Amino acid sequence: MRLIIGFLLIGILFINCSNEKKDVKQMEIKKENYGTVDGKAAYLYTLTNKNGMTVKITNYGAIVQSLTVKDKNGVYEDIVLGYDKLESYLEATPYFGAVVGRYGNRIAKGKFTLDGTEYTLATNDGENHLHGGLKAFDKVVWDAKPTASGLKLTYLSPDGEEGYPGNLYITLIYTLTDNNELKIAYEATTDKATPVNLTQHSYFNLSGNCNTDILSHEVWLNADHFTPVDNTLIPTGELHPVEGTALDFRKPTEVGARVNNDEEQIHFGRGYDHNWVLNDVDGSLKLQASVYDKSTGRYMEVLTEEPGMQFYCGNFLDGSNVGKGGKVYNYRTGLCLETQHFPDSPNKPDFPSTILRPGETYTTQTVYRFSVK
Ligand code: BGC
Repeated sequence: MRLIIGFLLIGILFINCSNEKKDVKQMEIKKENYGTVDGKAAYLYTLTNKNGMTVKITNYGAIVQSLTVKDKNGVYEDIVLGYDKLESYLEATPYFGAVVGRYGNRIAKGKFTLDGTEYTLATNDGENHLHGGLKAFDKVVWDAKPTASGLKLTYLSPDGEEGYPGNLYITLIYTLTDNNELKIAYEATTDKATPVNLTQHSYFNLSGNCNTDILSHEVWLNADHFTPVDNTLIPTGELHPVEGTALDFRKPTEVGARVNNDEEQIHFGRGYDHNWVLNDVDGSLKLQASVYDKSTGRYMEVLTEEPGMQFYCGNFLDGSNVGKGGKVYNYRTGLCLETQHFPDSPNKPDFPSTILRPGETYTTQTVYRFSVK
């Protein structure tokens, strides 16, 4: 009997070790120097899975700099907007590929009150606060450590940074799987109550060339409602049915089909720039959105634990950003699917709470999964 148990244990150990080895062998991680910011070294890490899909990530802003995905003919092309050089990311950029926080999206007039104290944040988007402020998580150098199948990034956002209360310690793990998934796992703890709403701000163009706009991409959003906004893109607080509006993506629909409809919400957003209230949210990872590009067959699915999805279709791109390989990013040449809590939640008591308190751990996951149809 002891002998049998002994053999079994050795067997289990052997299986475990060989799995680990397989992981290490299948995932390749290359590290290159990418420059220096604030006296800290920035690197560009290239992760390659066993199929040949690659993702390049820099620890400056936790930015996804490139993502190559194959089309229906097996051709790998880069499907995200970004720059070749670090210097370009240091100039004004519309958050290409970055992780935004401490609060992704807008906070009205840059003010919120928490436990009786009013906090004032930068108003960096007209009269409102956007994506964590002037020098937020997208503009700092994170600490980075490769793992067996990805990259672990950590950042300590000090108490008072960009006006937010509490030291916030964030861990972000990017994983590239052999199922062609880019997974993002976020974790954060604080020593004072603070709003937290982290998201990934990649601009996707599944055509792989970015010469064409994304208007023929077919989008599906699992949402019966959205949060209507005022003309400064701050939610009114209502949840409005998508039924009968240009925001109804319950059936896969081309972005261009209704993006210029004569509807107030479309005027306010200059197209799509809204938060969809996802259905069936229970905190577990759920398939909530997809994008399909007929011309290349590339298909992207978005799984998230978050209650909201900001779908932004590049309405503010105007050709002034010259990206990778000298490519000019014209009007609507990229779309973002930002998984998150609702905009302005710190001022909207009826929205799901974004407040993290000492002793609690913020955790959330999002997966971008790629295939062809
Ligand atoms: C916002 C847009 C904004 C863009 C770039 C998106 O998340 O919804 O309004 O222009 O980020 O800043």
